[in-house]
Amino acid sequence: MDLKGRDFLTLKDFTPEEIEYLVDLAASLKARKKAGIVERDMRGKNVALIFEKTSTRTRCAFEVAAHDMGMGTTYLDPSGSQIGKKESIADTARVLSRMFDGIEYRGFGQEIVEELAKYSDVPVWNGLTNEYHPTQMLATLLTVKEHLGHLKGVKLVYMGDARYNMGNSLMIACAKMGMHFTACAPKAYFPNAELVAYCEGVAKETGATITLTEDVMSGTRGADVIYTDVWVSMGEPDEVWESRIRELMPYQVNKKVMDNAGPQAIFTHCLPAFHDLKTKIGKQIQEKFGITEMECTDEVFESAQSVVFDEAENRMHTIKAVMAATLGA
Ligand code: CP
Ligand code: NVA
Repeated sequence: MDLKGRDFLTLKDFTPEEIEYLVDLAASLKARKKAGIVERDMRGKNVALIFEKTSTRTRCAFEVAAHDMGMGTTYLDPSGSQIGKKESIADTARVLSRMFDGIEYRGFGQEIVEELAKYSDVPVWNGLTNEYHPTQMLATLLTVKEHLGHLKGVKLVYMGDARYNMGNSLMIACAKMGMHFTACAPKAYFPNAELVAYCEGVAKETGATITLTEDVMSGTRGADVIYTDVWVSMGEPDEVWESRIRELMPYQVNKKVMDNAGPQAIFTHCLPAFHDLKTKIGKQIQEKFGITEMECTDEVFESAQSVVFDEAENRMHTIKAVMAATLGA
């Protein structure tokens, strides 16, 4: 499989075989790292990591993965570059691709990372936009494969706001890999009709199914994977907290939901998660809205069914696979 020179902007651009190849490459890179094998395939290469929004996992995953393969990294933080403010995306892309071998971008609209890729001569990797989070999908798929042994036919239910990066990306990933995707949310939080139609088209080819439902009990019954994400994403205004909590609380992942799915089900989350509201922002939410848990309960998050930290670790192995494949090592 030759992915050298390709951008990684959304899973829509990749075939099921290419996605499976990246997941399996990540599994082998993970096994090699666990066996103590030091990767030295890419000494002399350098990557730029642009973050217009904050990050723990994605930044660390790119840095550790790059360093494991002998590459240098330059981190451009939300305030530390001219990108999009003083200098256009097109000019930034042309400057960075004269210096670096690959560029990661985390930010706002998908059109920004698309523009960056258009003007860049080196691979551009999407580290999260409002619309998509494709590197997270590879980590999800690897984690599901590790725990359930396969992808095809797996029933994955996404609970909460399915209009944003995580809901969109999970629906695409499931459609591509022949999985059964359910968005379980109030109607107003269903993914947009155009993307649903695209995924239904893909699903016809792969044997996947796409279901949108407001009904928690029928939606989650027999699920193999229950997935959720924060109810308010980075970049959204504080004013939306109140309505999100009111409208999405019935879609909280709690023990009743996990019991309804069954003992075979795993729970996962892209993280960060509001499961106990003990963080600084969590405490403010607790005081303001009188709640102690949000998108998932602490009980579920800490349960034996939870694989959230496996998925977090897999961010690094899968991002390493994306860089190795697209840089051609
Ligand atoms: N899941 C994820 O993208 O985490 P970060 O925001 O910490 O990178
Ligand atoms: N939907 C979340 C995902 C974080 C990884 C956000 O965009 O903030």
